[in-house]
Amino acid sequence: MAILEVHELKKKFDEDEVLKGISFNMEKGQTLSILGSSGSGKTTLLRCLNLLETPDEGTITVNGDLLFFANVKQLKEDELRKKRLHFGMVFQQFNLFPQYTALENVILAPKLVKKDMESAEILERGKVLLNKMGLSDRMDNYPHQLSGGQQQRVAIARALALNPDILCFDEPTSALDPELTGEVLKVIKELSEQNTTMIIVTHEIAFAREVSDEIIFMDQGVIAEQGPPSQVIDNPNNERTKQFLSNYLK
Ligand SMILES: Nc1ncnc2c1ncn2[C@@H]1O[C@H](COP(=O)(O)OP(=O)(O)O)[C@@H](O)[C@H]1O
Ligand SMILES: [Mg+2]
Repeated sequence: MAILEVHELKKKFDEDEVLKGISFNMEKGQTLSILGSSGSGKTTLLRCLNLLETPDEGTITVNGDLLFFANVKQLKEDELRKKRLHFGMVFQQFNLFPQYTALENVILAPKLVKKDMESAEILERGKVLLNKMGLSDRMDNYPHQLSGGQQQRVAIARALALNPDILCFDEPTSALDPELTGEVLKVIKELSEQNTTMIIVTHEIAFAREVSDEIIFMDQGVIAEQGPPSQVIDNPNNERTKQFLSNYLK
């Protein structure tokens, strides 16, 4: 069974149709990368998936839980929050809380949401996640005491802390110096090898080729091409895909 089914998703900002009917499925444990030029609708797609934006039309089904958009506008904030828990989000600009330590950033949401879990258990799990991100000696540091790469790894641990069905990344390394990009890509690759279900919006083409089971190339609000990396990256059919890739691979 598909863990995620997106069907004919549409989104307009005023008269500007940014998503023009996006449909795709994803299997549990897969890594899907989304490529595409700036303005093609990648961020809007991720934001629609976890209902930070309200889509105009279409359906999203996660693990059999159907999110009807006509209803979403009437959902209460706590219902919306529950639906958002299907997705973990990692943004370009880490968005850590500056007044909290790395560990506090990771356990904050579980403390609020997982009312059935003991504090000690939440704390322990937070430490395990930071450990996994290679930050065992940084747990008590505040964001300003951490490098960009370390902050982004805290943000990944934070997103994992709520056990999302699908972990989404929106250009996770775009705000980082090249030397810090590698350490973040390394942990994402490890997650991929552990079969974490992930959607990654990225401009790191070589990385996407290496870790992805599936690639979607978006162009002006539609999926122009979709398939395994060996097709979309190594052997694209679509003219826009070819043009886009030639800008990165020359
Ligand atoms: N909140 C918004 N209001 C109006 N227009 C928006 C908004 N968010 C995105 N857009 C527009 O939607 C288009 C796609 O943007 P975006 O999804 O951010 O693309 P990408 O992430 O691929 O660069 C752009 O033309 C952008 O200006
Ligand atoms: Mg974007």
